[in-house]
Amino acid sequence: MKEKVHIFDTTLRDGEQVPGCQLNTVEKIEVARALEALGVDVIEAGFPVSSPGDFNSVVEISKAVSTPVICALTRAVEKDIDVAAEALRFAKFKRIHTGVGTSEHHIKYKFNSTPQEILERAVKAVKYARNLVDEVEFYAEDAGRTNNKYLAQVVEAVIAAGATIINIPDTTGYTLPHEFGAKIKYLIEHVPNIHKAILSTHCHNDLGMATANTLAGVLGGARQVEVTINGIGERAGNTSLEEIAMILKCHKKTGLYTDINTHKIMATSRLVSTLMRMPVQANKAIVGRNAFAHSSGIHQDGVLKRRETYEIINPKDVGIKESSIVLTARSGRAALKHRFNLLGIKYSKSELDEVYLRFLELADKKKEINDDDLLVLVDREKKINKSIQLISLQVVCGKSLYSTATVSLNYRGETFTEAALGNGPIDASLNAIRSIVKEKIRLEDFVIQAITRGSNDIGKVNMSVEYKGVLHYGFGANTDIVQASVEAFLDAVGKVLK
Ligand code: KIV
Ligand code: ZN
Repeated sequence: MKEKVHIFDTTLRDGEQVPGCQLNTVEKIEVARALEALGVDVIEAGFPVSSPGDFNSVVEISKAVSTPVICALTRAVEKDIDVAAEALRFAKFKRIHTGVGTSEHHIKYKFNSTPQEILERAVKAVKYARNLVDEVEFYAEDAGRTNNKYLAQVVEAVIAAGATIINIPDTTGYTLPHEFGAKIKYLIEHVPNIHKAILSTHCHNDLGMATANTLAGVLGGARQVEVTINGIGERAGNTSLEEIAMILKCHKKTGLYTDINTHKIMATSRLVSTLMRMPVQANKAIVGRNAFAHSSGIHQDGVLKRRETYEIINPKDVGIKESSIVLTARSGRAALKHRFNLLGIKYSKSELDEVYLRFLELADKKKEINDDDLLVLVDREKKINKSIQLISLQVVCGKSLYSTATVSLNYRGETFTEAALGNGPIDASLNAIRSIVKEKIRLEDFVIQAITRGSNDIGKVNMSVEYKGVLHYGFGANTDIVQASVEAFLDAVGKVLK
């Protein structure tokens, strides 16, 4: 029989502790609604005693969502617990998450206390909370570094006091996966009343092991995981929700599942990243920009033949339309043809060979080729075989210099070269062209635009010229805007002189 792993999302509590990522109440409600739609079982909505803003957010989130349990964090302090219960008053399903540090570091140096005193404090807090709400979760802070025997005593005592979910946090992200898995197993095997509670993992990523530790905990018997969207959280962050959800989805052999609607993962990730102004690293598993992008020619060819060759996750499963084939100078003809097909452009083999050479020229100048760039390339292809074509262009320009341009053209089957001055490199180039074609062609309108962004971008030029009272339009595009302007002018002049 398959067993469910409950998803406890702490994006709005541990995640929100990230400096600079604070959300206002309206934004928190938006995230909470997205988490509800995503299918999380529990939303940790805040730490109500910490500030009036946090208190208010827990109140408003309790009103705004109805399916998940709403959880509020407290210390093992009566005042905290009273405030949390008050903040949760509108929640349909409510949980108080109370606890205390149980490792030697916490007992000795944080509390200047003894293991026995801490155990009594834990029990008192759980009993107090149980008088106010039906569901109490206990956390043994720094459980990762807590002696297993003592941890088992604390867990047994708080379950007897009424806690039904026991959180075993690896607060400092120090524990190794096999140790964390063994800790959970140890508790299952040594706590007599453990069948009355669910064990929960809460792992931090200080050594990059949060997901591995959480998985080890789940395989060891934990049935709740505390996670955040995009893995945000204190310091190096918490376990990321999307990684655990997709691991369990991809590895059916574990016999475990979550109720996460994985198709909503990407949208939720983007929402959290945008609202928290916290970009997702490009190579982040599942939700990074490059997670489904293939850039090497060999991989692109393999993926186009059969997606599974280089992908273990169907991008559609996480809400991405399709894997992306990033066109770069390393891309092959197969990837280029595929992208042209998507744009509705069909090329024969010889046409593709021709356009591929131009594609490589452009890709050498620009890191990544997008659809706009390809359309420009197609447009340039169409212009080949026109009556007037640019062979070469050289400009000299700069501060305190007259601009000069030397232009060579193939014009009506013959080669001409002229040099001219101008009040800038573009003006000089157009003057050189005018002296080759020997016609009075007046520039009427001239617009330069960058297609996307970045200084390596393609400049797009639209031009209109007037000849004998009639307007003719031209278009050019190139990473060199002088060349783009010359191409646009020749495009228009070609129409004048055809
Ligand atoms: O990391 C931790 O130990 C915590 C507890 C407060 C649950 O966030
Ligand atoms: Zn934490």
